[in-house]
Amino acid sequence: MSEPQAGIFVEGSTSHFFLEYKLIEGVSAAQLKDVLAKAVVLSDTGVNRVWSFGSDCWRSIAPAACPADLKPFAAIGEGKRVAPATQQGIFLWLHGDNHSANFDAAMAATTALASVAVLQLEKIGFLYKDSRDLSGFIDGTENPKGRGQQLVALIPEGEAGAGGSYVMSQQWVHNLASFHALSQSEQEGVIGRTKPDSIELEDELMPENSHVSRSDVKIDGVAQKLYRRSVPYGGVLEHGLYFLAFSCDIRRFDRILQSMFGVSGDGIYDHLTDFSTPVSGNYWFAPSAAELSAIGSL
Ligand code: HEM
Repeated sequence: MSEPQAGIFVEGSTSHFFLEYKLIEGVSAAQLKDVLAKAVVLSDTGVNRVWSFGSDCWRSIAPAACPADLKPFAAIGEGKRVAPATQQGIFLWLHGDNHSANFDAAMAATTALASVAVLQLEKIGFLYKDSRDLSGFIDGTENPKGRGQQLVALIPEGEAGAGGSYVMSQQWVHNLASFHALSQSEQEGVIGRTKPDSIELEDELMPENSHVSRSDVKIDGVAQKLYRRSVPYGGVLEHGLYFLAFSCDIRRFDRILQSMFGVSGDGIYDHLTDFSTPVSGNYWFAPSAAELSAIGSL
């Protein structure tokens, strides 16, 4: 059994750093491997680290160990309602309960990568109340539990990239003033769940454009489940959700986004996109723990 990077499954961290790096032009695969081999072994007590790579980057590092469907993120949607693509090369997610240790780890990793990659996007995330999004709704209720998490998140044994995971990340910027101008029952109609305790609305009360209606996608009877690890980020001036999810199948992300952005055939879009806007979009591959630690010799 190929063990995954353990940090994917550690839940409840109060402090998060999401770091997206752009590769410096002209860097060779050999240079990249050499630098990464040193960077990925840096460790600090209490800091969970998950390393992931964009498709071009991972293909150049490990052409033989690349999962079949890995691809860059492409924009989804039409007109003004679009999930944009901002594909970068390396993604590091650091999390734990010690913000100082996370900060030190983020600085050390960025210094270690400096000759091959430049930090392009940084979001500092935090646990808000009892795992709520800043809208006030609990995020993660329908996430798989126990063994189901690995089944949903990891590429199965026997396939290229086994024990690794397809990853999607998106920075969403919230307009909380407009969301909070709605009554509580209108807000619940936008999400599709009750606000205090996250109970799914009954069928007759569930709007067809609620977030639950648009994200609970089935294809040929198979629920397109994800293991979501999003947390809120930001402060008073700008805030939102850093959406982060892991999947055994990259097509699930496309299908849910198509449904949310009104391009899955029925023309209905997710009402949530009237109150929050994605400003980044990336697909990554998080290799298994063994592949990650062998990066220098792949
Ligand atoms: C502003 C951005 C977003 C916010 C605030 C948000 C928030 C939520 C909330 C509150 C729930 C209900 C509770 C739960 O089951 O976790 C939920 C469910 C869900 N969300 Fe999101 N979400 C966002 C974006 C996305 C995106 C981009 C995707 C996937 C591409 C997604 C996929 C899902 C899925 C699969 C569910 C479970 C649906 C079900 O089976 O009931 N969400 N989200």
